[in-house]
Amino acid sequence: MTLKILAVASECAPFAKTGGLADVVGALAKVLGDHDSECRVLLPLYRSVVHLAEDADTVLDLGPRFGGPVRILSKRAEGIDLLLIDAPHLYDRPAQIYLDDTGRDWVDNHLRFGLLCWAGAVIGRDGVDGWRPDVVHAHDWQAGLVPVFLSQFDEETPPCVLTIHNIAFQGIFQPSTMGALGLNPAGFTQDGFEYFGNISFLKGGLVQADEITTVSPTYARELMTSEFGMGLEGVLRSRRDDLSGILNGIDTEIWDPGSDPALAQTYTSRTLKRKAANKSALLERFGLSGDGSEPLFSVISRLSEQKGLDIALQALPDAIERGARFVLLGSGSAELEKGFAELAQRYPDRVGVEIGFDEDLAHLIQAGADATLVPSRFEPCGLTQLCAMRYGTLPVVSKTGGLADTVIDANEAALAAGCATGFQFAPVTAEKLSDALSRAMDLYADRSAWQKQMRNAMKHPVGWDSSVAKVVSLYRGLAGS
Ligand code: ADP
Ligand code: GLC
Repeated sequence: MTLKILAVASECAPFAKTGGLADVVGALAKVLGDHDSECRVLLPLYRSVVHLAEDADTVLDLGPRFGGPVRILSKRAEGIDLLLIDAPHLYDRPAQIYLDDTGRDWVDNHLRFGLLCWAGAVIGRDGVDGWRPDVVHAHDWQAGLVPVFLSQFDEETPPCVLTIHNIAFQGIFQPSTMGALGLNPAGFTQDGFEYFGNISFLKGGLVQADEITTVSPTYARELMTSEFGMGLEGVLRSRRDDLSGILNGIDTEIWDPGSDPALAQTYTSRTLKRKAANKSALLERFGLSGDGSEPLFSVISRLSEQKGLDIALQALPDAIERGARFVLLGSGSAELEKGFAELAQRYPDRVGVEIGFDEDLAHLIQAGADATLVPSRFEPCGLTQLCAMRYGTLPVVSKTGGLADTVIDANEAALAAGCATGFQFAPVTAEKLSDALSRAMDLYADRSAWQKQMRNAMKHPVGWDSSVAKVVSLYRGLAGS
């Protein structure tokens, strides 16, 4: 029997993306199609994707809700079946998904994502177009109230899985929003969606979901500790029997160095020499000096406290003084943006910095760099290290969450066994990152050892092949119960 899944998310690549959540929702929707499952993704019709409404079918009219008219449109695009929430009063806006043009959260984000949750629950209960999901899969806090709304209905509803992509974002709002959200006040308790006197979308979801997953086995364990649980460790410990960590994959069609249109030169593990043309293109793009023989480190990241890039700012000068080149693509914290701009001013021919979000440049950097840095303080899974490995670019990562689960450190034993794929360090300090960068530079000097490690990285499975089976088996278990 084909399994019908409704994914509910605020992001889905390639349509609306600020980070890895989008990649995962988009990639999973596509691969599920090859596993006897049918996934439709419920996504707000943001202004940036309003073109998707052309030729879309209206499949449900929800009437006036959350302050304006709401319709659900159905459309297949880029191999993904989308259900789009057409609610112009909430989504037809300029700027980013979550932030207004002054860089602050939209003041009505509770309504914008409350509607996403409510629409997800209604479609879960009633279906659309004669299509009713067997399982609803809610992603992150923006979809956290889906299981809460499902539990408020009297009718029979499908089971719901909630995936935590990042517990740092919990969707916390004033209790006065309860009425506008249509939440039953009986749920405003310690065992419900109440959290220190406020409403928490994520906590509500964690309490009500039938199953909870997160995006790596290590993060699943970390989440139950006070160091990583960000206040929700107790709730998660109480649900430990229903919590599992299933490693993310990347879309290996979008991230394929053999066919990537954003590269200066495509290559495979058999034609590794061609990778060098991307390094030259990257050095030229950033106006950096060198003949390509110097190691080139990179960062592609949101610039936030989570990512540990303040430590990179401290550790990089030593490596740069030793001859390394460095490029960064990212945006976020003003302080980090300033810090990296200053680094580029200090080493204008060795450091290139681009503040912004640029999908094509991200691909070129993955192909052109020798190594990529992910020194995160916590990292639920991390996708950049997976993309890097697929492109033969060695990750230098902190030993946490999904980074710990996906990178094999080039320690003596791994080097002797010939299985290393990158470099890990712990704890997250500038000193330890510095050591890891030195180790990387030493290994880089040994061309054949480095190339062996590049090939290992490229062989490392980074797609969805093994994880999708676990996801499907979770869905089947729920649908059958
Ligand atoms: P997170 O979701 O915490 O930001 P991930 O590593 O899971 O981290 O995913 C980040 C995704 O966003 C990757 O696909 C990465 O290439 C992309 N990305 C991050 N910053 C940028 C940027 N400035 N420009 C383009 N892509 C970016
Ligand atoms: C989050 C996490 C990241 C993860 C991504 C997709 O944004 O920070 O580690 O890879 O979600 O699950």
